[in-house]
Amino acid sequence: MTVTDNLPTLLVVEDEKNTRDGLRRYFDGKFDIYLAPDVATAMNVLESQPVDVLLTDLRLTGGTEGLDLLERATSISHPPVCVLMTAYGSEKVAVQAMKKGAYDYITKPLDLEKLDVVLTRALHSRKVESENRQLREELDRKYGLEKLIGNSPAMTEIYERIRQVAPTRATVLIEGESGTGKELVAQSLHMLSPRKSARFVAVHCAALSPQLLESELFGHEKGSFTGATERRIGRFEEANHGTLFLDEIGEIDAATQVKLLRALGEQTIQRVGGNQTIKVDVRVIAATNKNLEALVREGKFREDLFYRLDVVPIHLPPLRNRKEDIPLLIHAFVHEFARQNQKRVVGLTTDAMEALQQYDWPGNIRELRAAIEHAVALSRGERLSVRDLPPRVLGQSEGVAGLTSGGSSSGPASLNLETMEKSFIRQALRATEGNITEAAKLLGISRRTLHRKIKTYQIAPA
Ligand SMILES: Nc1ncnc2c1ncn2[C@@H]1O[C@H](COP(=O)(O)OP(=O)(O)OP(=O)(O)O)[C@@H](O)[C@H]1O
Ligand SMILES: [Mg+2]
Repeated sequence: MTVTDNLPTLLVVEDEKNTRDGLRRYFDGKFDIYLAPDVATAMNVLESQPVDVLLTDLRLTGGTEGLDLLERATSISHPPVCVLMTAYGSEKVAVQAMKKGAYDYITKPLDLEKLDVVLTRALHSRKVESENRQLREELDRKYGLEKLIGNSPAMTEIYERIRQVAPTRATVLIEGESGTGKELVAQSLHMLSPRKSARFVAVHCAALSPQLLESELFGHEKGSFTGATERRIGRFEEANHGTLFLDEIGEIDAATQVKLLRALGEQTIQRVGGNQTIKVDVRVIAATNKNLEALVREGKFREDLFYRLDVVPIHLPPLRNRKEDIPLLIHAFVHEFARQNQKRVVGLTTDAMEALQQYDWPGNIRELRAAIEHAVALSRGERLSVRDLPPRVLGQSEGVAGLTSGGSSSGPASLNLETMEKSFIRQALRATEGNITEAAKLLGISRRTLHRKIKTYQIAPA
């Protein structure tokens, strides 16, 4: 066997030794050739290295094992392009083989020159196909992640996870504060998946009453409840073969949780008021800005559903924990809004940049984006200055003395409600030396509420 770099590989599967040897002599120098007398040997070769072209006899040892081999060869991860040799008169089987994925066939006795032409063409088609695939993959990579800006270590890790999990059908649970980009991540997961040509359907679970949510998700039959004047196809059915994005999943009621659990487990749904079981092929991505595990502990969210959803978690960090991404984000948003407003804005003054870096961004990227839009709209010069920025971004350190911005080290305190609440609870607990009853009185809430908040925020008891 001659192994030469860069020659395409050809695997010849032929039980007649003379034919094998003849083929080897003829194609030596043009291909890197492997010979196999039977299916087992051929599969060994195919599984141990990439093969460009597979040339197989249809009838091996008297049977039609060639078809068998064809099927197995086309189902490996980088399948070769397959050409069949068949006895004159058995073209019918050859046509059958083409339907199973063979590229072409040639009849025996072999005309080697003709075979040469067929193999050259086969090789070319494989090259074109693999180039197309590469281009497609490159485009997908770009398109799928290009909207996500940021190159902090935290974001880089998230891109990696998105790339890994996107092609699978694993359920993904995206957690993160409001405005951290959960929906954007969900869209990227869809765009990078084989489901991208089907629909991405988003449902905002918090926006609907329990009854409406159920019919939104699963659809309903005509007359199933007052107001159901027509049959309605639910979002699960709309997203068939695509992706269903369930936003604010922590808000769904107990009854819908049960139905959702069943839909996820069995990949079937029933419309409200219907008794037909409908099969759906849907990949579910869920998002929440709540701590879903805490909701499980409080008995507000089903544990079994949580585990169904949390197959692959993606946690989006708040912007204040990856402030190094702020300049890049600003740059992109300035560009976007300058173009949109047909204004010439080239950047920011140092003061303005510093103020934006200082701020804690409780509303995360959404808030930053809005701040830049505001500044670009108001700007009079080519550089955004401090006076163009929303007052909130500048004046936050006044009036909230005594508060700490829980977790983040730099920058002034945050006006984030949750952060303030945590801080007040800690202060009350400190003032009462951990006496819950006293602390609750001080805060003007019930003991039970205080207990719950301590649990949710995982505050250490004094
Ligand atoms: N990494 C990012 N790069 C660029 N833009 C981003 C990024 N993350 C979020 N955005 C932008 O910020 C805004 C909010 O993002 P998105 O709606 O995805 O957040 P969210 O986490 O779903 O928020 P909410 O919990 O409030 O629904 C959108 O305009 C989005 O385009
Ligand atoms: Mg969202």
